[in-house]
Amino acid sequence: MAKHKIGWLPGDGIGIEVCAAARVVLDRLGFDAQYVEGDIGWECWRQEGDAFPQRTVDLLKRVDAAMFGAITSKPVKAAEAELIPELQGKGLVYRSPIVRMRQLFDLYVCLRPCKAYPGNPINFKEGIDLVVFRENTEDLYAGVEFNPVPQELADTLGHLSKSFAPFQKLPADEYAISCKINTRRGSERIARAAFEFARAHGRKKVTIVHKANVVRATDGLFLEAARSVAKEFLDIQVNDANIDAICMWLLKNPFDYDVLVAPNLYGDIISDLCAQMVGGLGFGCSGNIGAHLAVFEPTHGSAPKYAGQNKVNPLATILAAKMMLDWLGESDMAVRLEEAVVAVIAEGNVRTYDMGGANTTMEMAEAVASKL
Ligand code: IPM
Ligand code: MG
Repeated sequence: MAKHKIGWLPGDGIGIEVCAAARVVLDRLGFDAQYVEGDIGWECWRQEGDAFPQRTVDLLKRVDAAMFGAITSKPVKAAEAELIPELQGKGLVYRSPIVRMRQLFDLYVCLRPCKAYPGNPINFKEGIDLVVFRENTEDLYAGVEFNPVPQELADTLGHLSKSFAPFQKLPADEYAISCKINTRRGSERIARAAFEFARAHGRKKVTIVHKANVVRATDGLFLEAARSVAKEFLDIQVNDANIDAICMWLLKNPFDYDVLVAPNLYGDIISDLCAQMVGGLGFGCSGNIGAHLAVFEPTHGSAPKYAGQNKVNPLATILAAKMMLDWLGESDMAVRLEEAVVAVIAEGNVRTYDMGGANTTMEMAEAVASKL
C-alpha cells in the first residue's frame, strides 16, 4: 500500500498541464503515493450543473491531502448561459468550487509563500521573502449576498443603521449587498497560525493587514483579535497596516516585511501583489490548510487563452507540491525539490515564456526532475 493517498484535481485549462508537470517531478522524487483523480471544473458545471460534484467532495474525505490545478470561473449570468439546455432556467447558480472547498472542509489557512529565487530574471528585487497568511473561509467570501435586495432586509437595515438611509428608497434591483462577515474565532485562528509559523521558521515579524479605520466593525474585530493573539508571541514583532498603504509600502520597502496576516479579500489582493514581486503568478504557490485536510494549488487561474499549449510555467504548481510534501511531513523530499527548483532557476538554461525563455511546461518540469 502506498504511504500517502493524494486527491488529484487538475480542473480546467492550464490546470491540466501544470498538474501533469508536477506529477513528473513528484514521481522522480520517489514520492510514495496513490493518486485518486477527481472531477472538478467547468465541464462538470456545464454537464451537471455543479462544478464541484458530490463524488469529488466524498473523494476529498478519503485522502490525506490534495493537489488542485485551476478552474474557470465566470460571473453568474455568463455561467448560466453555458449550461447544457436541459439545465438552463433551473435557478442553478455558479459558485467558485475552490471557495466552496475551502469552506466545506474548513481549510481556514491560506498559506502563500512568496520567495524571490536567486537569478529569476523577473524578480522585482532579489532577496524578497514574504509569507502571506490569508484567512480562507469568511469575510467578503462568506457568500451571503443579495441582488436584488429583499424588502425585508432593506427594512431591517433601515431600522438598524442611519448610514443605510441613502439606499433605503432604491428599487430592489438598483443595488446589491454582499456581506462581509468576520468572526473572532476565525480571526484569532488565522492570526495564531501566522504567529506559530513565524516562531517555527525563525521569522521576526508579523504584520496585520486591515482597513479598520473605515471598515470598523469587521476589520476592527480582526485587528483586535490578531493583536490579542500577538500577546502570546512576545518573541515576534508585530505591527499593522491598512490594506491600501501596505500595497505601496510593500513595493517600496519589501524588505521591511516578513509574515503578513490578512482577512480573506485583502489576503487575496496582497498575495497577487507579493507573487508579482517574485516573478508573477508562475511562481505563486498556495496551501489551503485545515485541521484534517490540506489542498495545494498554484495561485494562478485556468488561463483559458494558454490552455493546451504546453507553454505556461509549472513552477507554481511544482512549488505547491513542495508545500504538500512539507505538510505531509516529507521534509527531506520538500528540501530536495526546492533545491532542484533553485538550481534550475539559477542556471537559467531552461526558462518558460514568462521568464523570457521559450521552453515548454514539460521542459521546465523535466529540468527540475533532472536535478533530483
Ligand atoms: C485565489 C483566487 C480565487 C480567490 C478565485 C479563483 C476564486 O483568486 O485563490 O486567490 O479569489 O480566492
Ligand atoms: Mg486570488
